[in-house]
Amino acid sequence: MNIIICKDYAAVSAAGADIIEAIVRAKPDCTLGLATGSSPVGMYQELARCCAAGLDFSRVHSVNLDEYVGLAPTHDQSYRYFMDDNLFNHINIKKENTYVAKGTGDIDANLAEFNAVLDRTDIDVQVLGVGPDGHLGFNEPGATLYDGAHKETLDESTIDANARFFASRDEVPRFAVTMGMGNIMRAKKLLMIVSGNKADAMRALLCSDKIDPRCPCTFLRLHRDATVILEQSLADEIGYKA
Ligand code: GLP
Repeated sequence: MNIIICKDYAAVSAAGADIIEAIVRAKPDCTLGLATGSSPVGMYQELARCCAAGLDFSRVHSVNLDEYVGLAPTHDQSYRYFMDDNLFNHINIKKENTYVAKGTGDIDANLAEFNAVLDRTDIDVQVLGVGPDGHLGFNEPGATLYDGAHKETLDESTIDANARFFASRDEVPRFAVTMGMGNIMRAKKLLMIVSGNKADAMRALLCSDKIDPRCPCTFLRLHRDATVILEQSLADEIGYKA
């Protein structure tokens, strides 16, 4: 793994954007795997600035990691809304070239469509955040992880962590559809943006040799081209030295 330690969140965001920018410049028709959550927001703002300065997203495609079950795309906490609001409305990507799985309607049909999209898509770089419990997308810790896109029941700790975005904890959806670990691991490159209270997950990823399904982010160790970007303060907190 390539570990980049930055002085603060602004530097994390800039370092992440540099990597995406290089990929888009080298391959203008690339496919970006994208993530929601607060961690990549600063990087998306940097990419909007890059676009204003001439970086061309007109031939780029994207596919997102996950979506809440039960939230329509117009709901301000749906991940489709998040992506439009935080990135797609600020760059010249064509909306029809962006894919966020549907969280409403017939979930089995939505998953069949999501898996069909993933089966015909080669992701050049998959952006990842990480949950405090180590989840990737919504692949929650457990004895079993899944290869393809599937429905997950959110852990109580994930509902707690994401409640800050909703008016109350009761409004947080209990289910989500998510890329599976196989879909993530098949991306050519992984780019994890780490921000917030992620000490347990980062200790498991950076300070241990174990690949542990109870902490899905540890699977990054198996990828040939995974980059993790974190702040110095978090590296210090877990005692990690480059
Ligand atoms: C959600 C998303 C994940 C994201 C995680 C962390 O659970 N499904 O993809 O990585 O939140 O979010 P944050 O970056 O806000 O800590």
